[in-house]
Amino acid sequence: MKIVVVGKGGREHALAKKLKESSLVTELWVCPGNPGMAQAGISCAPFESPEMIERFCLENKVSLVVVGPEAAILSDLKKNLEAQGIPCFAPSRAVAELESSKLFCKGILHDAQVPTAKCVVSYTTADAVLAVEKHDFSSPLVVKADGLAQGKGVWVCESRAKAVEAVETLGTQFGYPLLLEECLIGKELSAFALCDGKDFVLLGTACDYKRITPDPFSANTGGMGAYSPCDFISQEDEQTIRDIFAKTLTCLEAKKMPYQGFLFAGLMKTDKGIYVLEYNVRMGDPETQALLPRIKTDLLKLIVSAVTHELKNQACELSKKASVHVVAVSQGYPQTQMLLGNPISYPEKANLVSDLYFAGVSEKQNHLVNSGGRVLGVTALADSIQAARAQAYQDMRKISFEGMYMREDIGL
Ligand code: AMP
Ligand code: GLY
Repeated sequence: MKIVVVGKGGREHALAKKLKESSLVTELWVCPGNPGMAQAGISCAPFESPEMIERFCLENKVSLVVVGPEAAILSDLKKNLEAQGIPCFAPSRAVAELESSKLFCKGILHDAQVPTAKCVVSYTTADAVLAVEKHDFSSPLVVKADGLAQGKGVWVCESRAKAVEAVETLGTQFGYPLLLEECLIGKELSAFALCDGKDFVLLGTACDYKRITPDPFSANTGGMGAYSPCDFISQEDEQTIRDIFAKTLTCLEAKKMPYQGFLFAGLMKTDKGIYVLEYNVRMGDPETQALLPRIKTDLLKLIVSAVTHELKNQACELSKKASVHVVAVSQGYPQTQMLLGNPISYPEKANLVSDLYFAGVSEKQNHLVNSGGRVLGVTALADSIQAARAQAYQDMRKISFEGMYMREDIGL
């Protein structure tokens, strides 16, 4: 099979590497990919727009397209490819509203009877302020914008004054409706399912580190590292997570919006059970780089089964080993002013125990340089999280570029 993976980050590097292990693959390209992937032996084709990707797929007789980022999922890519008879593993734009509208997501969670935080929806500032007044602040109030907000649309507010400020800021920046939610206290995790519209296979769990430093009030990022599996998830919890996915898929199917693609549940394990915070309609970045190296089952075979609606009774076998993924970012990230364009020094593959995944890199005079916020990451697999952590950091010390920064507590 000839495969195209769409995207250019560390997540797509990990997806491409895993899919290439499949006996079904004859050729695989990443569109557009990045020069780091290319140096690691993955073919990249420099096409990013849906039209260019479609043309490339037709010219090269591509048999399946696997989409990474939500921007491509929300584009016409899937519709256009399918119109040309090329299967595209991604949810439809209609059901992708699960990620792009928190209100839509809440409605589905409610109808599917999946536990989620209690929530009031406000369509005007007056309504929202009234809802803030009614909250007693014995626990914080979470104020959320409805649409995609690049990590800036959620404020967890400990006081009434803060909540009013959140309403004013989010209402002005992103408009209405706003969601005002009960604050769930517990441990956060990400769970991933591969879905065929009706059935699904649970891929596994991972925990990511969203803040730039260990300070929980420091700036939000795309993700500074991850480990897998989540060590606080019991067998019973895993069954609860399966039930959550099953109920959600059944509800979506009943609404004539069958979900096919990767489904990412952002979950909170509280002392009252597991709640869904949000759904994303894609794999997580960097959770993918932590989870995929643990997958032993042929991932491409699972995706092909999903596309042909034959996932029932299939399973994904995971290595018993734990993984830790550490991300290196450019100086200045997550602000827009960053120190970029500096050569990256990294050892030959044989001198690294971990897998190396590239994200924000470009090529200058045959040399890789950092060109984005999240630049690269390494994933180590070992018998324990502690051992994987030690290995990942040992390998990270062999990599450098001017201004390189990483968190030191991934997997701690
Ligand atoms: P979301 O975009 O809904 O996932 O929110 C972003 C982050 O805000 C989550 O990863 C949580 O850390 C936090 N968050 C969102 N909703 C809640 C909630 N109801 N209770 C506690 N934390 C929340
Ligand atoms: N790591 C979180 C995300 O991909 O949204």
